[in-house]
Amino acid sequence: MATEHQVVLVPGDGIGPEITGAVLRIIEASGVKIAWQSHVAGAEAMGSKGTPLPDELLTAIDEVGICLKGPITTPIGRGFQSVNVQLRKHFDLYANLRPTHSLPCLPTPYGEIDLVVVRENTEDLYSGIEHEVVPGVVESIKIITERACTRIAQFAFDYAIKNGRKKVTAIHKANIMKLSDGLFLACCQKVAAEYPSIEYTEMIVDNCAMQLVMRPRQFDMLLLENLYGDIVSDLCAGLVGGLGLAPGANLGPKHALFEAVHGSAPDIAGLGLANPTALLLAALLMLRHLNEMEAADRIFDALLKVLAQPEQRTRDLGGQASTSAFAEAVVAAME
Ligand code: NAI
Repeated sequence: MATEHQVVLVPGDGIGPEITGAVLRIIEASGVKIAWQSHVAGAEAMGSKGTPLPDELLTAIDEVGICLKGPITTPIGRGFQSVNVQLRKHFDLYANLRPTHSLPCLPTPYGEIDLVVVRENTEDLYSGIEHEVVPGVVESIKIITERACTRIAQFAFDYAIKNGRKKVTAIHKANIMKLSDGLFLACCQKVAAEYPSIEYTEMIVDNCAMQLVMRPRQFDMLLLENLYGDIVSDLCAGLVGGLGLAPGANLGPKHALFEAVHGSAPDIAGLGLANPTALLLAALLMLRHLNEMEAADRIFDALLKVLAQPEQRTRDLGGQASTSAFAEAVVAAME
C-alpha cells in the first residue's frame, strides 16, 4: 500500500485558498496519499487567534517537518512582521532554492533557460536591524557571517553534485562592500576548493543583472546573499514567463517549506483568475523531496500538456481558464 505522508498545509490568504485548493485536487488525483494538517497564519490567524503565527502551526511544522504554504499578505509599514520571514527564522530555513526552467510549451524571448538560484535566507540587510541615528538619518545594518556564508555555499555545491549541475557562480558587490561581500566571497572560494568537479566563477551583481538578460545561458547555478538573491531570483522568474510560474523551497537542517514565489495577489483574489502553476511546481519539489518521483513526473507531464493549449491557460498567460478549470484540465490530462 502507498505510504501516507504527513504535510502541514497553510492555505494563506488572497489567492492562497484558490490556488492551494487547485493543487490539492491535482495531488489527490495523482494517487499520492497525503494527510494534510491545515493551519491558518497571517491576518486570518491574527483575527481568530490573536497572533499571525499561532503556536499550533509552529508545533505542527516542527513535528511533521514539511509544509506547503500559500501566499500570506504582509501589512506595509505597520502591523505584524512578515510571517514568511518569521517562519524562515524560527526553523532556520537557511537555503532558498529556486529552480528556474523555461517550459517547452511557453516559449520566451530568452530561449531555453535552465538555472538554479540559491539564496541565503537568514541574514544580510534582512536581519531588520534599523535605527534612526538623528532625525532624517537612518541606519540599516547588513549582517554577514562566516557560518551562514559557508553553509549556504556548501548547500549550493552539494546540490550541484546531487543534481548533475556543472557550475556555481557567486554573485557579489565586494568591490564596494569589501568586508561583508568580501567575507561572502572568501567563504565561497574556500568551499569551492572542496568541490573540484564543479566549476566556480564570480560576478558583480549589477553586471549579473545585465548578463542574465543578455546571455542567460552562460549561467548554471547562482549563489547569492539574501538581498541580491531576492531581487535576482525574481529577475530569473521573469526570464521564464513571470511569477505565476516560479516555485521556491526554503530548506533548513530539519524542516522544508515549499511555496510559490509570488504573493497573495489581492487585486485578483476571489475572482477565480489565479494561476496555480507556481504553487503546483512548488508542490512537485515537495513530492520529489518525499521521494514521490513517479507522481511528480506524471503531474508535470500533464501540466505541460495543459499549458500547451493556449485556451486552457489562465488569464495571466493569455488564456481564459479559471483556477479550478485549469486544475480539472491537469487532472484530465493525467488520465
Ligand atoms: P504579488 O505577487 O501578490 O502580485 C504581483 C502581480 O502578479 C499582481 O498583479 C498579481 O495579480 C499577479 N500575480 C501574482 N501571483 C499570481 C498568480 N498566481 N496568478 C496570476 N497572477 C498573479 O505581489 P504584491 O502585490 O507585491 O504582494 C501582495 C502581498 O503578498 C503583499 O502583502 C506581500 O507582502 C505578499 N507576499 C507574500 C509572499 C509569500 O507569502 N511568500 C511573497 C511575496 C509577497
